[in-house]
Amino acid sequence: MYKIPANTLFLGKNLVFVPECHSTNSLALELCQQSCPPEGSLVITGRQTEGRGQRGNAWESAPGQNLTFSLILKPSFLAIKNQFLLSVVTSLAIRDYLTELSKTRAYIKWPNDILINEFKISGILIENQLMGDRFTNVVVGIGLNVNQKEFNSPQATSLSIVVGKTQDLQLVLEGLLAELEARYFQLREGKTQRLYQDYLSHLYQIHKVATFKSGEEQFSGEISGVDEQGKLRVVVRGSVKTFGAKEISFVKPEQITHE
Ligand code: BTN
Repeated sequence: MYKIPANTLFLGKNLVFVPECHSTNSLALELCQQSCPPEGSLVITGRQTEGRGQRGNAWESAPGQNLTFSLILKPSFLAIKNQFLLSVVTSLAIRDYLTELSKTRAYIKWPNDILINEFKISGILIENQLMGDRFTNVVVGIGLNVNQKEFNSPQATSLSIVVGKTQDLQLVLEGLLAELEARYFQLREGKTQRLYQDYLSHLYQIHKVATFKSGEEQFSGEISGVDEQGKLRVVVRGSVKTFGAKEISFVKPEQITHE
């Protein structure tokens, strides 16, 4: 059970709590089809049976221990070609909040994973409903590992692991919603350069040489930034190449193959 947050102006004021559901993103999208939930509506559950992640992956989260929720936004002011800014806003809000709370620097791993100490602590899944060339509803789904201590994935962590203390889910939710709202207002006010700059300043591995995989090819390169469509810019053998989210992945040191 969650309470309506007192520290936001519109995020979470309409709160839909279900003890269990397939996926809060799917439920939020269904609500948008059936009715017209107000902007800022929050759909939250203690247990997802079919939590969805990026690239068709599943999102696993131990029941009652973490935050799994979706927000309904209506950014009619935003051109569809600028939709990456929604990912920028969301990633930055989570990153800032986690850094402040845990006193440990969190990074945004492009396009929108949040890492602390090289481990993934949060994931974002943004899904859109469009009408013509405008957004009608955007569902921003967030999974944040809060109190879970053991994971199937060796690359996952949680706030309680990082901080060494069990966290109050309601308080974490409230803090996060306040950061999200503040960043969303920046977007609404047109502060896009500031948002891009902040995003780049917290981007994992920026200006560092890393190994990537694109298709079957493995190569090293240096991330130099992200373009306006949200494509990753990587300097490979002296020239800048851009990659979409499905076109490139990081290769972990133990997976690097040498010819
Ligand atoms: C990822 O990193 O792959 C994205 C994970 C997103 C998970 C959240 S949990 C709440 C919302 N509902 C879903 O089914 N997915 C998102």
